[in-house]
Amino acid sequence: MSKHIVLLPGDGIGPEVMAEAVKVIKALELDITFEEKLVGGAAIDATGSPLPADTLEACKHADACLLACVGGPKWAGAAYDKRPEAGLLGLRKEMDLYANLRPAIVFDALIDASTLKPEIVRGLDILIVRELTGGVYFGQPRGITDIGNGERRGVNTQVYTTSEIRRVAAKAFELARARGGKVCSVEKSNVMESGLLWREEVTKLHAEQYTDVQLSHMYADNCAMQLLRTPSQFDVIVTDNLFGDILSDEAAMLTGSLGMLPSASLGAGRASLYEPVHGSAPDIAGQNKANPLAMILSLAMAMRYSLGAPEAADRIESAVKKTLADGVRTADIGPNPVSTAAMGDAVVARL
Ligand code: IPM
Ligand code: MG
Repeated sequence: MSKHIVLLPGDGIGPEVMAEAVKVIKALELDITFEEKLVGGAAIDATGSPLPADTLEACKHADACLLACVGGPKWAGAAYDKRPEAGLLGLRKEMDLYANLRPAIVFDALIDASTLKPEIVRGLDILIVRELTGGVYFGQPRGITDIGNGERRGVNTQVYTTSEIRRVAAKAFELARARGGKVCSVEKSNVMESGLLWREEVTKLHAEQYTDVQLSHMYADNCAMQLLRTPSQFDVIVTDNLFGDILSDEAAMLTGSLGMLPSASLGAGRASLYEPVHGSAPDIAGQNKANPLAMILSLAMAMRYSLGAPEAADRIESAVKKTLADGVRTADIGPNPVSTAAMGDAVVARL
């Protein structure tokens, strides 16, 4: 049966890395149709809204959505709901994409691109499961208010409910069953009530349904430290929206470059969203030098989780591995770099 993908190139290096994913889609010669939609700053410029209604509609009805990245200095001064990031956050919320899977895998060929010693990162395979539709990103109240005497007050609210915690924890336990069988739940229950609730609910769910999985708990600051000290101790990490944002950038660097990390955002509904962990990198946008591999690996995740084409996912991932083993590098991961387009071509040639 034919599958349909919505492509969301977004801003900055987005259109450049998306173009390489499109080359891969075409080269696979599967029964897949695709259309492009606006999101982020590109959508603000064209329509005034970071998430136009027709983009959201198309995404909700797609079999998978592939997003590159949003944001840039051009839109930085605007109100939060008029910023490119609001397009991405709106998509996550409206599509109820509560579980964000961010795998950090070290490819042997890239072992020297990591700033950590090879013996620390060799063979590394961590999966961060980040809660994506709750916490301080969406909690109310929020805002900046004038409180007189030249003073202002900025407020954001960290809030979680039982069901929000249980559904993302369940996802983490299930994923762990299919990999190393270990989940580390991360919060700050030493200072935050929402963190204490997180720990209690994860512990309860574990005892009820997942005793075959090994569960541990860690404070977020300690986790940040342990990720650098002994990253191989982790299998699946489950954590909230903000800690997940931070820890996944850190985990990405273990692998050598933020330009290598794909992610999948899964929810209760039909469509899921696949996006690289990296941002829009405005400093190198339009220069044909960004690394398209995180985007291409995000496409592989879409093939596996949403498009019923695991063999296509394997093909893409093997082609990426071969490309790296052959020494092809973009500027973020090595010397004598090739362009974005040449990296995409190199992957296509090895499919
Ligand atoms: C990410 C990004 C986003 C986030 C930004 C662009 C809103 O950093 O996906 O990790 O904070 O979630
Ligand atoms: Mg981030």
